[in-house]
Amino acid sequence: MSDEFKSKIQNLKSKIPNAIAIDGPAASGKTTIGRMLADYLNCLFLDTGSMYRATTLAALQNSVPIDDEPAVTTLTEQLDMDIIPVQNENDGRLYTVWLNGRDVTWELRAPAVDRHVSQVSAYKGVRQNLVQRQRSMAQRGRVVMVGRDIGTVVLPDAPVKLYIVASAEERARRRMLERRQRGLDVDHDQILADIIRRDRIDSSREHSPMRPAADALIIDTTGRSPEAVLREILALPAFQPAQARP
Ligand code: CDP
Repeated sequence: MSDEFKSKIQNLKSKIPNAIAIDGPAASGKTTIGRMLADYLNCLFLDTGSMYRATTLAALQNSVPIDDEPAVTTLTEQLDMDIIPVQNENDGRLYTVWLNGRDVTWELRAPAVDRHVSQVSAYKGVRQNLVQRQRSMAQRGRVVMVGRDIGTVVLPDAPVKLYIVASAEERARRRMLERRQRGLDVDHDQILADIIRRDRIDSSREHSPMRPAADALIIDTTGRSPEAVLREILALPAFQPAQARP
């Protein structure tokens, strides 16, 4: 391979940052945007919220009391968990989550999981275990990782950090739409209250509270389409060809 060709390939590759960290509150649009960005850049997509949800589901299904922090932590350490790209499933999923040999992708969205996930996510040992798994998953290749503490704790050196927000009303509307599309009952007030409650717990917890990293770009998606937000992100200097950068 000639040196010129090698440098062209290198140039092309350097257009895509090796890790993109996306954080933000519940239903802010971060998962939709993250998935679109990962598809566009042909990167892995890892939604870390699904891992906290899977841990919560495992506790509920194994009758481990959610208040029992040591027991929930021990359970977490024993879980066999993975997130893999969609194969042939044509049911609107963005990825598949395996938990102890079972596809639990949709079970993770159950109201009981919504109710308890923020309590489980506040446990230090649970976070330590899942963050370790997330970092080793990030070694699989270029990655778009979505969560609450990706830019601050999981991948603090990520070259691109985004913090996606939207008004609570709009977030509740989006969650209602998602649920309706899946044929589930919706109660606007209850959904809004759950979102506000989870945000409060997530941002006030002692370990890795939800907050933007100092070098994160904050993007408000209220009233904007995912495509418009994606265009704004792709116009960032980090996504321009290396030779075009100052
Ligand atoms: O999809 P939604 O925005 O409702 O939530 P999620 O991203 O699936 O995350 C569910 C919960 O997991 C959050 O409310 C947090 O309590 C927790 N979480 C976390 O603590 N750290 C992360 N990196 C991701 C999620």
